[in-house]
Amino acid sequence: MARACRTFSFTFESTGLGVIFVPKLIAQHMSLFNNISKKVEEGILYLTINRPDKLNALNIATLKELKEVMQQAYDDDEVRGILITGAGPKAFVAGADISELKDLNEVNGRKFSEEGQEVFDLIENSHKPVIAVVNGYALGGGCEIAMACHMRVASVNARFGLPEVSLGIIPGYGGTQRLTQLVGKGLAFEMMMTGDMIDAEKAQQIGLVNHVVEDQESAMQKAEDIMKRIFERAPLAVAMVVDCVNAVFSEENGYLLEANSFANCCKSKDFEEGTSAFLEKRKPDFQGE
Ligand code: COA
Repeated sequence: MARACRTFSFTFESTGLGVIFVPKLIAQHMSLFNNISKKVEEGILYLTINRPDKLNALNIATLKELKEVMQQAYDDDEVRGILITGAGPKAFVAGADISELKDLNEVNGRKFSEEGQEVFDLIENSHKPVIAVVNGYALGGGCEIAMACHMRVASVNARFGLPEVSLGIIPGYGGTQRLTQLVGKGLAFEMMMTGDMIDAEKAQQIGLVNHVVEDQESAMQKAEDIMKRIFERAPLAVAMVVDCVNAVFSEENGYLLEANSFANCCKSKDFEEGTSAFLEKRKPDFQGE
């Protein structure tokens, strides 16, 4: 809940110590969440789902925090890209919190699915690159978060799966759509109908992950390297890539959007800078304008 006053905007932050009242700008840079930890370094927002005792299972409170952190990241000029990972050595996220699932009925079940989809859409449509760094289990909602990210880097111990049918439900946070988009219909059917997990190597073989490296630390390093490469590129062009690629899977005419976006790039200062820098044999200095 946020409240504006004349000179500062304030927000009520719920912490382990109760609810406190802090200026919004400060709050955005503090980790005042119960289930997510975050820090910003060199333009990268490190967003860690932090419930290691429950293998980072995604309860409603965590989903709410995830939404808030993503919304803040959209608006925070210091954040140029986002790495999403899970705390502890065992799991990225082991799925939606099953202890909360059991109370779902037809009405709140729909809401559960729609609200989750809304949060994961924020990840997918972010104009700032989002990379999942996956260590250990990425099951159910965990696999769905990873799939909503623009890319996935995994350590060899990663395990992916959508086991919802073994609980009598189906993936509800966009998983039926995004898994099919990423790996194709046949393999998506197999994974979602059997509910079986696959290892990192298989996930890479089928296009579910971009890179597999030896451990958690190397996965973070690899993701940081990719992010830093992207930071060298023109931010507006990168954002337009997000929109155009996502248009493939929407009702939008992707070719039309591509042409419009291309035209918009051509009028940007970054385009002028990129082409001049090439011809002058120097590194471009993009301003995102
Ligand atoms: N929801 C709620 N709690 C979960 C959870 C989930 N999705 N996944 C794990 N946990 C909890 C366990 O209940 C356990 O809590 P406890 O110590 O209080 O009993 C803790 O996390 C550790 O899990 P545990 O099952 O003991 O670890 P494991 O190494 O034996 O098994 C898994 C790991 C991932 C195979 C197993 O936890 C599992 O199958 N989880 C559910 C996966 C799933 O179906 N996800 C999709 C939900 S839609």
